[in-house]
Amino acid sequence: MQLSGQQYQIQGLNVLDICQQFGTPLYVYDADVIIRQINNLKSAFNTVPLRIKFACKALTNISVLKLMQTQGIGIDAVSVAEARQALLAGFKPKDITFTSNGVDFSEIQEAVELGVAINVDNLPTLELFGKTFENTVPCCIRLKPNIRAGGNAKIQVGHEHSKFGIPLAQLPDVHTLVKKYNIVINGLHIHTGSDILDPEAFIQGANVLFTVAKEFPDLAFIDFGGGFKVGYKKGDKTTNMPDLGEKLSAAFKEFCKDYGRELEIWFEPGKYLVSECGVLFVKANQVKQTPAITFVQVNSGLNHLIRPMMYDAYHEIVNVSNPEGELKTYDVVGYICETDTLGSDRQLNEVRADDVLALLNAGAYGFTMSSQYNARFRPAEVLVYKGEARLIRERETIEDILRNQILLDF
Ligand code: LLP
Repeated sequence: MQLSGQQYQIQGLNVLDICQQFGTPLYVYDADVIIRQINNLKSAFNTVPLRIKFACKALTNISVLKLMQTQGIGIDAVSVAEARQALLAGFKPKDITFTSNGVDFSEIQEAVELGVAINVDNLPTLELFGKTFENTVPCCIRLKPNIRAGGNAKIQVGHEHSKFGIPLAQLPDVHTLVKKYNIVINGLHIHTGSDILDPEAFIQGANVLFTVAKEFPDLAFIDFGGGFKVGYKKGDKTTNMPDLGEKLSAAFKEFCKDYGRELEIWFEPGKYLVSECGVLFVKANQVKQTPAITFVQVNSGLNHLIRPMMYDAYHEIVNVSNPEGELKTYDVVGYICETDTLGSDRQLNEVRADDVLALLNAGAYGFTMSSQYNARFRPAEVLVYKGEARLIRERETIEDILRNQILLDF
């Protein structure tokens, strides 16, 4: 979203017109930003055989997935239903990886039946996988690299006490199972966390993988997961992709020489591809002056964007209806019947009732983590593609709240 004169625009469209047309609260995604981010990643790693697997848990709308598919990337799915959405969007099964954790084995069997690639994150599952498929279906294994990195404790998942991945100390058990059942391990995977700024964390992870990889002769790829740092606040530092690309590609090439074969290098970015593309537009229901604080009460809340309450995440807020208004200080809060602050102590251009506010960088883990809490409808979603705003999900209605509920006949 850019300010052009006195108008906030996405691909030249006045965002107020988009909100007028589709109503608020509304998630709007800019396809150009998604494509730009894909290209940034591709060009940072253009000297190695790169495969991008979009971690679609960040944004699963099937039209967004279809856009991703047109850009020649793959999908990282964490449930069979995510994989099915990717198939519906046009991805081939082989371009989808099912990175399960803690799922019932039947879900893995279902994914295998769909032809989706499998990533295994614990020994009991590996044993069942071996017993069931022996050497007929290859699998990747997710390792726990013992690295603590990521924006906050809830999204750090590579450390010793994390539930994710097979601990390095259990590698001998992996080898026992591989031998016993003839399992073909075609990839190694780590995902250390989300919002990782320090390129060292990736290099450290790479070193763990390169060391372990020598023990597995059938590898086709190494998957470094996602977790690149995106900006949420003006001046936030973000992953320096060209720098990371250069360092990691050099290390990867060195490793491949050692390994004796050229492997593919995989990443599974979520936020990096879709955080910046998304804006959540909300309307100020009223401005509530109190002796301590001036609240802007908006027609949304933690039900639509849980990141501020769940991770203390900062999302920049802009009053798109009054770009020239005098700056005043506000707490922007939702209409949910519990504390749901979207931004506190924010300097905004004066907010009046019915003004539209934009919550920026809301494309990743925005809609996908939304709920019907307080029996509120989930917002509509719009994709701006080639200068046109297209509805890609209808706003929910009372039918969506009642769907699947059963009124007993007492
Ligand atoms: N790969 C795996 C195995 C993952 O678990 C994740 C994210 C990703 C890739 C993508 O990570 P990203 O590039 O988006 O950082 N809801 C939290 C983030 C949770 C991330 C969960 N796993 C948030 O809104 O900050």
